[in-house]
Parts: sequence; structure tokens; C-alpha cells
Amino acid sequence: MTTTIALAGKGGTGKTTVASLVIKTLIAQGADNILAIDADPSANLNLALGLPLEQTIGDIREDMLDQVNPMNGNLNGRPGMNKFDYLDYEIEYALVEGDHVDLLAMGRPEGPGCYCAVNHILRDIIDRLGRSYDYVIIDNEAGMEHLSRRTTRDVDVLYVVTDPTVRGVVAANRIAGMRDEMDINIKNAYLIVNRVAGELTPALQEAVDQVGIPLGGIIPADPQVTSMDANGQALVNLPPDSVIVQAIESIVQQTVPARQPG
Ligand SMILES: Nc1ncnc2c1ncn2[C@@H]1O[C@H](COP(=O)(O)OP(=O)(O)OP(=O)(O)O)[C@@H](O)[C@H]1O
Ligand SMILES: [Mg+2]
Repeated sequence: MTTTIALAGKGGTGKTTVASLVIKTLIAQGADNILAIDADPSANLNLALGLPLEQTIGDIREDMLDQVNPMNGNLNGRPGMNKFDYLDYEIEYALVEGDHVDLLAMGRPEGPGCYCAVNHILRDIIDRLGRSYDYVIIDNEAGMEHLSRRTTRDVDVLYVVTDPTVRGVVAANRIAGMRDEMDINIKNAYLIVNRVAGELTPALQEAVDQVGIPLGGIIPADPQVTSMDANGQALVNLPPDSVIVQAIESIVQQTVPARQPG
């Protein structure tokens, strides 16, 4: 069984940072079969993971559509190859293979025109690919409306990440409130308050208490993250005793169900 973990939240709250360090934590716990999906069109999870990125699913879709013969719908130069097989092959090729974690970047959702049929095929392929991994981590673009729609139908753990402001927490609550309207089955959702300096203020604590999902944890502001990002270093290389890594370890321990052996 695959455990799927997704990140949502307003822009710049720390989704990609948390996603990369959840992956680091899972690897430290012994996981070695993880799929990271970057569902943000301006893909940058690869940088936090220290992995190269050459091709996105969006690129693959555009390339394929360029090859469709408008007269008969067949793929030019590939007689007998159907679109599913073509996409399946290309996605396998675009998968970036790292140590313990592979990465797939979704890229741009769609260009002009409706490619619903292609998107449907893509979701089926990615869904099936995900099932061959122990963990799938999905880093989403800001907001909730995009959440995983192109990648999966089932999410075991959703983290809604917020900055440490009352306005941010109110926005996170709104995002969390949208989860039931989606055609995605979300088992458990948690709020994460990121970049906290010291304790939560009473006003923040009150706002957090009013959120419709439980608090998964608080992550301190960590100057090491600031300096590593300023220097373009991969966050997965943060030392294991850094405050942010320790905070995320404890969140994962309390919110991600332990895998059944076998
Ligand atoms: N706990 C933290 N301590 C210090 N800096 C942090 C922390 N979390 C995130 N940051 C910084 O905040 C910025 C935004 O983080 P990140 O890119 O993870 O957010 P995001 O939610 O993925 O943004 P986007 O919506 O653009 O995808 C980065 O520059 C990162 O270095
Ligand atoms: Mg991001």
C-alpha cells in the first residue's frame, strides 16, 4: 500500500521546504522507495531535493500533441503506437531517479484548447506509477483548487501550511474547508504553522484553535534554511540536528501512519 502525503497552502508559506524535509525524514527512517511529485507549474522541488530536472509532464503532453496527425488522430512517425503507450514510455523516461527518491514534475497544466482526454490518461498513468512506491509526496502550487487533481484521487495525509499570522491561519482554514468539495479522498488533514519565532502569540493560538483541522505541528523559523536557500543549496542536506529537521521529524512521527511490515 502506498502512503500519499500532499502539501497545500498559500504562496510562499513553506510547502516546498516542508515537502523536501518530509522526504528527508522518511529516508532517515529507512524509506527508499519514494516518489516526489512537483505539481507546481513553476517547478522547484528538484532544487530543494538536489535533483536535476529536464522534462516535465507538460512538456511531454505538448510534444505529443505536436505529433498528432489532425487527419486521423494517429501519432506521426509512430505507426501503431497509441497515446497511452506513448505517454507511459515518455513519463518513465522523464522520471528523475535519485537515491531513495524519484521525482516527476507536472509543469504547465495545459496550453490553449482542451486536452481533457490527455489529462485523463496522464492521471491514470501517474496514479498507477505512484502505486509502485511506498510513499508519494505531492508538492502543490498555492491554493487548494489545484490540489492533486492531475495526480491522484487518494491522499492519506494533507498538510495545510501557513505562515505565523492570524490572516494566514484564516486563509489556511479556508483552504482546509475546500477539501470536501474536491473529487479527492483525503483521509487526514493537519495544519502546520511554519516560521514561528518563539511561541505562538495568544491571538495566533486562538486562530489555530478555530481551524477545522487539527494542528499537526509548529515549525520554527530556521536561519539555516535562509542561508542554504540564499546559496542555492539543497535543503535535504540540512544537518539532522537542525531545528527545522527536528520539528518535521516530530510532525511526521505523529501524523504519518507507520507502514505495515510486508
Ligand atoms: N522554517 C523556515 N525558516 C526559515 N525560512 C523558511 C522556513 N520555511 C520556509 N522558509 C523560506 O520561505 C521561502 C518560501 O518557502 P517555500 O518555497 O518552501 O514556500 P512555498 O509555499 O513552496 O512557495 P510557493 O507557493 O511559491 O511554491 C523560502 O525562501 C524558504 O527559504
Ligand atoms: Mg513551492
